[in-house]
Amino acid sequence: MAWNPELYGKFKKERFAPFEDLSGLVNVRDGLDVVDLGCGAGELTGRLSDMLPDSRVLGIDSSPEMLKQAAPRTRPGLDFKLLPIEDVSGKWDLIFSNAALQWVPDHKKLVPRLISHLRPGGQIAVQVPSNHSHITQLLIQETAGEEPFRSALGGWLRHSSVLNITEYAELLHVNRCSGITIFEKVFPHILENAGSVLDWLSGTMLIPYFSRLQSPLKEAFRDAYLKKLEKLYPGGPVFYPFRRIFFSGFRDGGSA
Ligand SMILES: C[S@@+](CC[C@H](N)C(=O)[O-])C[C@H]1O[C@@H](n2cnc3c(N)ncnc32)[C@H](O)[C@@H]1O
Repeated sequence: MAWNPELYGKFKKERFAPFEDLSGLVNVRDGLDVVDLGCGAGELTGRLSDMLPDSRVLGIDSSPEMLKQAAPRTRPGLDFKLLPIEDVSGKWDLIFSNAALQWVPDHKKLVPRLISHLRPGGQIAVQVPSNHSHITQLLIQETAGEEPFRSALGGWLRHSSVLNITEYAELLHVNRCSGITIFEKVFPHILENAGSVLDWLSGTMLIPYFSRLQSPLKEAFRDAYLKKLEKLYPGGPVFYPFRRIFFSGFRDGGSA
């Protein structure tokens, strides 16, 4: 799945806003071993590193395109590595992830596995989008279910792996976390028009559809979806509410 750092970065202000909420949950201490899962272009990994004096922060990501952007940010205490989240190993004082775990399946297995890589008192702090039931996302599935796209995709549809906030709370509790904080927040974005909504989603949710379609079907899919968006949002600006889940906990009774 090919990520496009330029397209993803187009809505930087809106996409970076949740980082403020997530980093606000981090228990700031000196000298931590930190991993940022799905670090992307690494700008926010750098900001995380700035917050944590004398810490060793490692950003990991499975996209060579994103990591190419991150590489120049490397400095003492801040490194980047091409590695899938599924392969994370070792022991960490902080496992951090902003807007990336939604790409990894089966959170009921993933979250306990991540917690098992925390040192006692270590913290997991995660933000995942939970906007999958928004009309703009349902229309992606509707388009993918129509011909000729349905046949070209072999009936494939992307289903969200994101759980609800109660399920994350239970997962953290059952896996011996304390100091649990979980909330869901709506970010009230204002976008210019239907085309801007398409651009937003082209940088994330549409990528797996685009990567499964060849030209000219890829462009036809994009146009068919844009038509639906234009019907939904005939003018501008567009109010585009975006839900995100934040969760944090400390392994084995560590305190917040
Ligand atoms: C929406 S971007 C978020 C980037 C960064 N954390 C931020 O907040 O700006 C999601 C990132 O997750 C990465 N990603 C998706 N699936 C992954 C996986 N299984 N392992 C590692 N990285 C993954 C993508 O390559 C992409 O860079």
